[in-house]
Amino acid sequence: MSRCCINPSILSADFANLEAEFARIATADAAHVDVMDNHFVPNLTLGLPVVERLQEISSIPLDIHLMIQDPDRWAPAYAEAGCDSVTFHAEAATAPIRLARELRSAGSKAGLAIRPATAVEPYLDLLPEIDMLLVMTVEPGFGGQKFLDVTLPKIRSAAEAIKAGGGQVALQVDGGVTEETIVRAAEAGADVFVAGSSVYGASDPAAAIAALREAATT
Ligand code: DX5
Ligand code: ZN
Repeated sequence: MSRCCINPSILSADFANLEAEFARIATADAAHVDVMDNHFVPNLTLGLPVVERLQEISSIPLDIHLMIQDPDRWAPAYAEAGCDSVTFHAEAATAPIRLARELRSAGSKAGLAIRPATAVEPYLDLLPEIDMLLVMTVEPGFGGQKFLDVTLPKIRSAAEAIKAGGGQVALQVDGGVTEETIVRAAEAGADVFVAGSSVYGASDPAAAIAALREAATT
């Protein structure tokens, strides 16, 4: 693969020092921001007011991952805040096509996420409506979980469908991405990699980002 993106997840960052934590990942392609509402997933993180400030201080694009109920109602504001991409869950959206169009017309990329046990086939017809497909490689809600190899065949079929459709859609994986698992995810066809604990748990996040990039592209 020629080009890949490494998007560190700030879920594993120090929430009391976010500006400094953003400076540590300046060599990444984007910062992955996990928004959780304690309903769609059993965890609560941050919301729009914090994201608006992060958008102002970040030197790299924001990749928003909404793990929330009713994204139809809440997601467009993140696009209006200037975030580069806004990803919502297929399991939570009522009208995913309408929502993806709204996100795009507000100026952001539209991402569609599926949980590890959600089949990708019902969503392949939506590929022309989105800019990124996120296949979760752990159950969403927490960092530091183990990569689920059971998702690899799904990543592979998603990559094939994207290629058949002209290759315009990025294929993101999120959860348990390490220097070891990224090789399998990349081989299956993913090209955008979210890594939380393996970047922020490292003593040198920039070196961890470079090592992940190297592992994904060789
Ligand atoms: C989990 C989040 C992930 C999380 C990944 O629900 O969506 O973005 O931060 O963390 P790691 O890389 O530690 O699995
Ligand atoms: Zn995430």
